[in-house]
Amino acid sequence: MNCNKRPDNMDRITTKELADKFIEEQVALVRQQVGDKKVLLALSGGVDSSVVAALLIKAIGKQLICVHVNHGLMRKGESEGVIEMFQNGLDANLVYVDATDRFLDLLKDVSDPEKKRKIIGAEFINVFADEARKLTEVDFLAQGTIYPDILESIKQAEGKKAVKSHHNVGGLPEDLKFELVEPIKLLFKDEVRVVGEALGLPHAMVYRQPFPGPGLGVRCLGAITRDRLHALREADAILREEFDNYGLNEKVWQYFVVVPDIKSVGVKNESRYEGWPAIIRAVNTTDAMSATIEEIPYAVLHKITERITHEVEGINRVLYDLTPKPIGTIEWE
Ligand code: XMP
Repeated sequence: MNCNKRPDNMDRITTKELADKFIEEQVALVRQQVGDKKVLLALSGGVDSSVVAALLIKAIGKQLICVHVNHGLMRKGESEGVIEMFQNGLDANLVYVDATDRFLDLLKDVSDPEKKRKIIGAEFINVFADEARKLTEVDFLAQGTIYPDILESIKQAEGKKAVKSHHNVGGLPEDLKFELVEPIKLLFKDEVRVVGEALGLPHAMVYRQPFPGPGLGVRCLGAITRDRLHALREADAILREEFDNYGLNEKVWQYFVVVPDIKSVGVKNESRYEGWPAIIRAVNTTDAMSATIEEIPYAVLHKITERITHEVEGINRVLYDLTPKPIGTIEWE
């Protein structure tokens, strides 16, 4: 049997009972595969890697070593949240790496979107590999591969071109040879969430909106600067806070701020005030292949505009992106 093919008779995991059964099976399989050896996992804090972490902690406890790489392109509070949940909450064996300077130094003056993506992807592997080399006696690498990833690789193997180069922890250097542990590779995203909740991960975490691997790097358009990245991070935090306040977080699939590398003239305290615009994007989709624009109530847009322009240094306008996919992709880069 091809173990990368979902069996035709595999039940869709829609209930806690089915999730519990899946977890029990996977715990046994992982223990059988790994024995008393150590397993490494790149824990981004996204749904997939978090569910794999929780599952493996249940199966093998401290034999799992989670490495959280902060590439400096995380959203506000995100890395702190990963540490809080996994190190403090689940008592995970967690290595935290703040690689902000490594990434931002490499990205300095790079404005081409694909080059930026490639640099971030490659450096992520470098940082992770550096950590892996420091750890001895690790034989396994766990990955949050899910079934759509496998279907996507099949498509690419058949010669269909991806629109953007996506980033994940594939392709480690030759000297690092691990056997893979991929306990959720036959699951679709909705099933991963049901399994996550059955493992006791918080609802908000398991149902959180997708966040791209290159992070805020693809939302701080063009060549990234620290001040504009900081403004983007603060504006994005306000957007998320207000979406939570108005209950839109449950309704809208993905919402975020983009800050382009342009300035316009404004006025503040009776003086000329040049600043960047914050562009809000809020989309709904089922499969991310196409997306429609959410009709955000005017009052919410108004509140967000007021807060961002008053609270975020460097932003003097707020715009709402009305472009569906296609023609725009969800991310701007
Ligand atoms: P686009 O911009 O192609 O995005 O319409 C579709 C969905 O994919 C997310 N995205 C990524 N996810 N690594 C990821 O894991 C990436 O490099 C990446 N780039 C885009 C995007 O946020 C949207 O949900």
